[in-house]
Amino acid sequence: MPSPGKLIVFEGIDGTGKSTQLSLLGQVLGERGLPVLSTCEPTDGVYGRRIRALYRNRESISRLDELQLFLADRREHVQDCIVPALAAGKIVLCDRYFLSTIAYQGAAGLDPAAILQQNSFAPVPDLALLFQAPAATGIARITGRRGEILNDFEQKDALAKVAEIFASLDYPYIRRIDATESIAAIHTAVVKAVEDILHLYQLR
Ligand code: ADP
Ligand code: TYD
Repeated sequence: MPSPGKLIVFEGIDGTGKSTQLSLLGQVLGERGLPVLSTCEPTDGVYGRRIRALYRNRESISRLDELQLFLADRREHVQDCIVPALAAGKIVLCDRYFLSTIAYQGAAGLDPAAILQQNSFAPVPDLALLFQAPAATGIARITGRRGEILNDFEQKDALAKVAEIFASLDYPYIRRIDATESIAAIHTAVVKAVEDILHLYQLR
């Protein structure tokens, strides 16, 4: 039976503005009195913390073990947070979900089809907003305005490969967003895509 809530996920390479847009969309939905839950992966749970410990130390484990950590984190997130929220009728906004695993762990050499299969426990999103920009743009935003150094998942050649896999994904729930535009223009595109799946509501 379909759940009464909606699952909207934000996907794309680092620095494409996913967190910025998730926060703006959350505000708009909240102002309209809609029940929203904002969340992210990796989570703050036990597996998410183990993943974050790898940001400066990715070579310390195998790619297969890394995949298992992302899957364990998602399994817990789905069970404890996403499924209950959807069952309660919430609009769940999730910063990264299983398309990130396909793209990042696929870029690291694992088989994208096998990764998708291993995510079959995870509810399929109602909408995946796929933020698209060249790797150089994402990197410039991370190292520039966000003032950070790149972590081990954000190195340029790897990110270009990740972007290539994201670009090749073709599922009916994906809406591509041109992430090279201004924050305001992207917000308008995001709201339009969300209105299309929520049907009943005019958000602006
Ligand atoms: P992500 O969550 O995809 O890694 P963020 O939302 O954290 O990206 O954005 C990364 C940086 O780029 C932040 O400093 C943010 O303010 C900035 N930023 C976000 N969207 C845009 C945009 N459309 N144009 C320019 N800079 C942006
Ligand atoms: P990110 O969204 O940047 O989280 P944080 O705010 O903690 O930095 O995600 C962290 C990194 O994890 C990012 O480079 C992408 C990577 N990642 C994967 O490799 N596989 C996955 O399944 C997920 C969810 C993220």
